Amino acid sequence: MGCGIVIIGPSGSGKTTLLRCMNLLETPTSGSLTIGGREVNFNLNKRLSQTEILALRKQTGMVFQGFNLFPHMTALENVMEGQVTVLKRPKTQAAERAQALLEKVGLSQKKDSYPYQLSGGQQQRVAIARTMAMEPSVFLFDEPTSALDPELAAEVLKVMKDLSLEGMTMVVVTHKMSFARDVAHKIIFMDEGVILEEGSPQEFFNNISNQRLKQFLNLIED
Ligand SMILES: Nc1ncnc2c1ncn2[C@@H]1O[C@H](COP(=O)(O)OP(=O)(O)OP(=O)(O)O)[C@@H](O)[C@H]1O
Ligand SMILES: [Mg+2]
Repeated sequence: MGCGIVIIGPSGSGKTTLLRCMNLLETPTSGSLTIGGREVNFNLNKRLSQTEILALRKQTGMVFQGFNLFPHMTALENVMEGQVTVLKRPKTQAAERAQALLEKVGLSQKKDSYPYQLSGGQQQRVAIARTMAMEPSVFLFDEPTSALDPELAAEVLKVMKDLSLEGMTMVVVTHKMSFARDVAHKIIFMDEGVILEEGSPQEFFNNISNQRLKQFLNLIED
């Protein structure tokens, strides 16, 4: 099993910002980041080169709340795009891989559909396949199911759980606590920009002493 980290916390607590620091959409002013054996230290005066940024960013794959598919491309073409333009794979090879990945997320029969012809859950699964195609070391998910009805969310969560079972490392911002219980090795609770609590699901749920966390868990619905 891969390593799963689930981040929870109230709106504005810094969850998205933390993910954006991990793929350098934000440049941290202190601390260090280690991904796939590559470590970068940050301080206020340091500017990373574009090459360094791209090399690190390539190790991560981000999936957002909105599915952000290319609207004028079919599901298959969406999953091929980055492989061809960024990884420079030949088209036939990219198409083969896209086909296999769509099958994996249960959408092989939808390969020729355009995003507007797909449900939100299906679109999100295409987005996940597209990210898988880039073979990142770490998957970053930012509330991937919060725009979806529960049934469609369940389809997406299943794909994410399968990914984790296959050994994928993922950092997931989600308030789906059953997913967190199942998949997370570590749960992190953020509040006002800092990590207030962290622990294994067992530690996390069994000895909650933090009042802020208690309040928060009482508020969210799974
Ligand atoms: N580069 C930055 N420097 C300082 N503050 C920032 C920066 N980027 C975002 N913020 C602020 O940090 C706070 C946290 O925002 P963020 O979007 O990370 O929260 P969130 O936990 O993802 O919330 P939500 O659950 O609503 O998505 C916000 O008040 C935001 O304006
Ligand atoms: Mg956010």
